Amino acid sequence: PLPIIIDTDPGQDDAVAILLALASPEIEVLGLSVVAGNVPLELTARNARIVCELAGRTDLPVHAGCALPLRRPLVTAEQVHGKTGLDGPVLPEPAMPLAQGHAVDFIIDTLRGRAARSVTLCALGPLTNIATALERAPDIAERIGRIVLMGGAYFEVGNITPAAEFNIHVDPHAAASVFACGAPITVLPLDVTHKALVTRARNDAFRALGTPAGRAVAEMTDFFERFDLRKYGSEGAPLHDPCVIAWLLAPQIFSGREVNVEIETTSELTMGMTVADWWGVTDRPVNALFIGDLDADAFFSLLTERLGRIAPA
Ligand code: BDR
Ligand code: CA
Repeated sequence: PLPIIIDTDPGQDDAVAILLALASPEIEVLGLSVVAGNVPLELTARNARIVCELAGRTDLPVHAGCALPLRRPLVTAEQVHGKTGLDGPVLPEPAMPLAQGHAVDFIIDTLRGRAARSVTLCALGPLTNIATALERAPDIAERIGRIVLMGGAYFEVGNITPAAEFNIHVDPHAAASVFACGAPITVLPLDVTHKALVTRARNDAFRALGTPAGRAVAEMTDFFERFDLRKYGSEGAPLHDPCVIAWLLAPQIFSGREVNVEIETTSELTMGMTVADWWGVTDRPVNALFIGDLDADAFFSLLTERLGRIAPA
């Protein structure tokens, strides 16, 4: 199986991504590194452990990481995710402890301790932990197999400002250093994740699994939907972060282009904008595979089938 680290700020959609990874035999989750984003670090660290317990994986190391972006104040998204970040289902407070050691050290030690280019970093939140690891240990850039991240946008710009997507906007300086690090990168932008909509029928399919995980995912996406319905009028919550894991499992249901992506870090107006050279109008070097489309039905059949494998605790 493919060894991965999930760097995350749960978040209902992060939670679904973690469950998808844990339910998939093609993937070996080495641990979770948690970052501040949707809600402050204390809550994302709590939520990550709640999700592990829901999947019966109390053995998985969950490391708390950076509490603040590199240079900017933290922006959170309680308006989307609720005050805990995981509003919706009623789930028990976690009993499992956090793992010893900072998430940044966990990332560095794991990359140094395993074969070069064998570990994939899956980034589901602001890129602060990964950028900090790269800054402290520049040698790891060559050891990363690939960074697969949810962030940015091309046509569908702007879910936190008119110009920027949340994960990149929260820590644009971190994003800029990640895009410059030289490791292979795959980007799942809003253009794709806004196609992964949990319609009523798809939500019913989660619930019909009849398991605690299926029910929790149905309740999480119900909660998450309220925001999108009110704000965008879209039927169903967009499952942003699970697209990262789905790309690892079934890249053939996605399509995209190898492009250059640069991150805006100076203009307040467009802070955190992902400037993707989709039409190749510059000679800037390719630094990412930018995904543009997905087969949503195939995505939801995969997700639902995998969630069904998570047995009741
Ligand atoms: C991203 O921001 C967060 O709200 C979600 O968890 C996702 O990672 C979408 O812009
Ligand atoms: Ca997230």
